[in-house]
Amino acid sequence: MPDVLVAVRNVSRAYSDGSVTALDNLSLTLERGDYLALTGPSGSGKSTLLHLICGLDQPSRGEIQFEGRHPGSAHEWSRLRSRRIGLIFQSFNLLPTLTALENVEVPMFGVLPRSPDRARHATALLDRVGLAQRLHHRPGQLSGGERQRLAIARALANSPDLLLADEPTGNLDSKNSRDILALLEELHHERGVTLVIVTHDPEIAGRTRRILRLLDGRIQSDTRQEA
Ligand SMILES: Nc1ncnc2c1ncn2[C@@H]1O[C@H](COP(=O)(O)OP(=O)(O)O)[C@@H](O)[C@H]1O
Ligand SMILES: [Mg+2]
Repeated sequence: MPDVLVAVRNVSRAYSDGSVTALDNLSLTLERGDYLALTGPSGSGKSTLLHLICGLDQPSRGEIQFEGRHPGSAHEWSRLRSRRIGLIFQSFNLLPTLTALENVEVPMFGVLPRSPDRARHATALLDRVGLAQRLHHRPGQLSGGERQRLAIARALANSPDLLLADEPTGNLDSKNSRDILALLEELHHERGVTLVIVTHDPEIAGRTRRILRLLDGRIQSDTRQEA
């Protein structure tokens, strides 16, 4: 039996008056340890699916389960996001007035009450993503690639089981894109984190274990390939 981390069951998401169907009766499971590229044309529902999987948005019909349970309240979802799910979204802005170290510490507040523990852990994570020399820089003082590394370090703050990345290399040049992808892959292997990457880049999709392609809010194909 596969170890199912997330189950999406007959999920639809309609917007406003129902004229836009972002997702149309979609079902899929994410197994623990999956490494999945989510692809499909712009507007096919990729971001909507990620938002539903982490509870930032709710389906119009159907249900999302995390480890076999449907989180029934906004509070439960919020707790899952802070403890179990790491988000790397372009819209998830880093806090501009905080340093890199402080940005990574923010999600740790409910989990590590002692300030020195947070600082030590955040420093180790920033070191891990190659930002050991940037601990006290603010986001505005970092390059695009460095900001993305910082977002990854922050997403790892509470050792998530699931990492959701929405076009994490979208604003980066090819060298930085390759480096960020390599980093995400290493984290997947090192920590066994289940990794979902939304991408338009066929080179990225070619490296993952599983490719899920959406079209008009439905699954067009779901293929597994040799690692
Ligand atoms: N807040 C919203 N209100 C209305 N329509 C939306 C909203 N968000 C997304 N959509 C529509 O839902 C569809 C899927 O969007 P999205 O999930 O962002 O696609 P993708 O990430 O694949 O580009 C698109 O037609 C988009 O216009
Ligand atoms: Mg999108």
